[in-house]
Amino acid sequence: MMSSLKLYSTIKKTGTWTILASLATLSVVSCRQPETPQANIESSPLETQEVSTQPDSPTLDNLQKAYNGESNAHVMYLAFANKADEEGYQKLASLFRAAAKAEEIHRDNHAKVIETMGALPKNTITDPQVKSTPENLKAAIKGESYERDTMYPEFISQAKIENNQAALQTLTYAQKAEAQHAQLYTEAKNNLDSWRTQTGPFYVCTISGETTIQKTATAECPAVEEGESYLEVN
Ligand SMILES: [Fe+2]
Ligand SMILES: [Fe+2]
Repeated sequence: MMSSLKLYSTIKKTGTWTILASLATLSVVSCRQPETPQANIESSPLETQEVSTQPDSPTLDNLQKAYNGESNAHVMYLAFANKADEEGYQKLASLFRAAAKAEEIHRDNHAKVIETMGALPKNTITDPQVKSTPENLKAAIKGESYERDTMYPEFISQAKIENNQAALQTLTYAQKAEAQHAQLYTEAKNNLDSWRTQTGPFYVCTISGETTIQKTATAECPAVEEGESYLEVN
């Protein structure tokens, strides 16, 4: 996949999208974000470029929905991690924390694009329903599967129709990571007893939120391709 920096460079030359500059800086910004979702996003030097307001764009609506979903997923997974720690599922707690970090990165990626489209990111944080860890895991698999199979594919198709390359990139990053989350959660569900005696870490790409259990898999992380590092989450 073309990195955000390379994508920005390519598209800037065509004059089609000048707004991608902010997305190219996301990894640096996301590392400094607080743990609670906020709509106020740090400004980038490149955000002074011309911004086109697109109030009637279905993709803008989709990004707002995705921003809200990622904001709530971030909060929910942190709560699930605490519950998993309480119940002695150490490795699963690490996975919930890694996924929470990934959702935070997606949240901030989406927010950047929303802002470059001339709108303010809006979210409504609801108290997560925390049950037993096996039940939380089941809910997590259901949510990730929906995002992987339905929500993000629809949003990506619409972004293609609108030729919104910045939206396409942030939505594609998220879909890839949600697929990884669904797979890792399913692996945890199928090996819950053994996972109870194991620990992390997991690895999270600071640009795309891609989440892996194997360190070697981070070689394909866009952040690594840009000479940056991924996060190790325990
Ligand atoms: Fe996400
Ligand atoms: Fe996810």
